[in-house]
Amino acid sequence: MINVRDLAYGRIGAPDLDRMEEFLLDFGMVRADRTKNALYMRGTDGDHHHLHVTELGDPVHIGMAWWAKSEEDLEKIARAPGASNVHEIDEPGGGKRVTLPDPDGRIIEVIHGMEVAEDLPVRDVIINDGKHKFARTDLQRVSANPGQPSTVKRSAHVVVKTKNLKKFNEWYQSTLGLAASDHIMAPDELSNNMMTFNHIDAGDEYVDHHVLLGIQSENAEFNHLSFEVADFDDVNTGHNFLQSKGYKHAWGVGRHVLGSQIFDYWRDPWGRIHEHFTDSDVVNNTHEGGRWEVNVGLNNQWGPEFPEDFVDDPHLHVL
Ligand SMILES: [Fe+2]
Repeated sequence: MINVRDLAYGRIGAPDLDRMEEFLLDFGMVRADRTKNALYMRGTDGDHHHLHVTELGDPVHIGMAWWAKSEEDLEKIARAPGASNVHEIDEPGGGKRVTLPDPDGRIIEVIHGMEVAEDLPVRDVIINDGKHKFARTDLQRVSANPGQPSTVKRSAHVVVKTKNLKKFNEWYQSTLGLAASDHIMAPDELSNNMMTFNHIDAGDEYVDHHVLLGIQSENAEFNHLSFEVADFDDVNTGHNFLQSKGYKHAWGVGRHVLGSQIFDYWRDPWGRIHEHFTDSDVVNNTHEGGRWEVNVGLNNQWGPEFPEDFVDDPHLHVL
């Protein structure tokens, strides 16, 4: 029906907004706004008002929001089954929105016209490597260990489980215009699709390898929200900082195979995974996706092995 421009934010619930804000500040976000009932956090990129919303309430995953390219696209998406009318967003940042359910019942928001903000300053990253030995001649001083959070730049992708991956992919591809990047197949059963990475279809423009990963499962649970940070040092300074604060680590630091991101996953105070990454593969409409065996798809190029409890976390239900 439409081709969304990008992921805008994830929306989750938490019974204690102070505690959630403390985690997100330690994770490397900045408060954009807070009301009695909700917390809005931003990153350093100014092309959005916020990239993370927490509503006061049960610790569930509520849904996610996507940027429409135009207001006309909001009119189009409002004709999808179960969609609301186009309406004003009665929240900080304003703008207009249509809400509609995805096949698992998550609340999907498609938004347009939300306020934008100023970029926040980020240090210039220059790395000397073996080939570019003198790219930087001043001293490298990124952090006093373990002195500072990461610098969250932007909201990058969402990973959720779905009861019907085929329907899930068809819906996101035909309704929001996403395109498949790669598939992970069940062990010894290469016709059985277990997971699909989807990217934004921006034609010949390059975008992140994935903006949405669906995982076939018995329950439509949430898995993680992912945020790009400034650079490789920033992943690691954030890791040490979150460790020093006693948060629960989920997986990392490592480099994925599919998408190639250098990743690090942390759990918020209610166990919901939030990811830092840097250096994603980018793809465009010439990308030829593949079908990968699960041990390739979930493996690393380097880093710790995939932990058993990463996907099967019984208390993280979507609804
Ligand atoms: Fe991820």
